[in-house]
Amino acid sequence: MKPVPGHIGIIMDGNGRWASQRGKPRILGHRMGARAVRRTTEACVRLGLEQLTLYAFSTENWRRPRHEVDFLMRLFVRFLRGEKKRLINNGVRLQTIGRTRELPPRVQDELARTVEATREGCKMTLCLALNYGGRSELVDACRALVRRAGEGHLSAYEIDEALIAGHLYQPDMPPLDLIIRTGGEMRLSNFLLWQAAYAEFYPIPACWPDFDESHLNAAIAAFAKRERRFGAVPKASRIAG
Ligand code: IPE
Ligand code: IPE
Ligand code: MG
Repeated sequence: MKPVPGHIGIIMDGNGRWASQRGKPRILGHRMGARAVRRTTEACVRLGLEQLTLYAFSTENWRRPRHEVDFLMRLFVRFLRGEKKRLINNGVRLQTIGRTRELPPRVQDELARTVEATREGCKMTLCLALNYGGRSELVDACRALVRRAGEGHLSAYEIDEALIAGHLYQPDMPPLDLIIRTGGEMRLSNFLLWQAAYAEFYPIPACWPDFDESHLNAAIAAFAKRERRFGAVPKASRIAG
């Protein structure tokens, strides 16, 4: 049976705090966070999710200390190398969103290899948001549209929501149903701004390294109880007329 949400996005926050609370360096939180990524990916495959999108590095995260950024870049490479076989065996196809061309070449190479190696995966898409910002995604879409207009292929009146969606990083991305944010903050921090328009938001206090199947199941159960109205009147009023 398919779970109610088909596409879940997760803002994986709280790695640094998880480590600080234990008197450990922040990077340990990131290392434990990578384990939570594996756990969560496999749990989502078991649930029959169509897509899981994970916010791994934002366009603003470059503001962090150099050693933390370097550690994260090395962790991405190590994670991709270590997970490739498991992703293939689990039928998971890897995808990315973000300005990945600005990532260090070794990260880009490993991403390209993993995307290629997993492209036949048909159970679930795992989309990693890397050097991703919702604002830069819209900026990049605008640039693409203006280029087309400059070539004479597009006029202002042809621009509609479908055309903009078709110029985002992954034009075929399924609708985003649910956003989970760990670490307790109540903000989007530039995650999937366009796609979030009618996604349900589910913040949880637990830090990302502690995230497990019980949190995932609780989020899905909460989602199942929500009434998504998309601007229409509540179902009860529709029946009452
Ligand atoms: C999220 O955890 C991981 C990344 C942004 C890469 P943080 O590193 O933001 O952890 P906190 O929010 O400082 O605890
Ligand atoms: C959001 O977390 C980015 C990722 C999870 C990759 P941040 O820790 O960067 O967000 P803020 O700074 O608390 O808004
Ligand atoms: Mg944070």
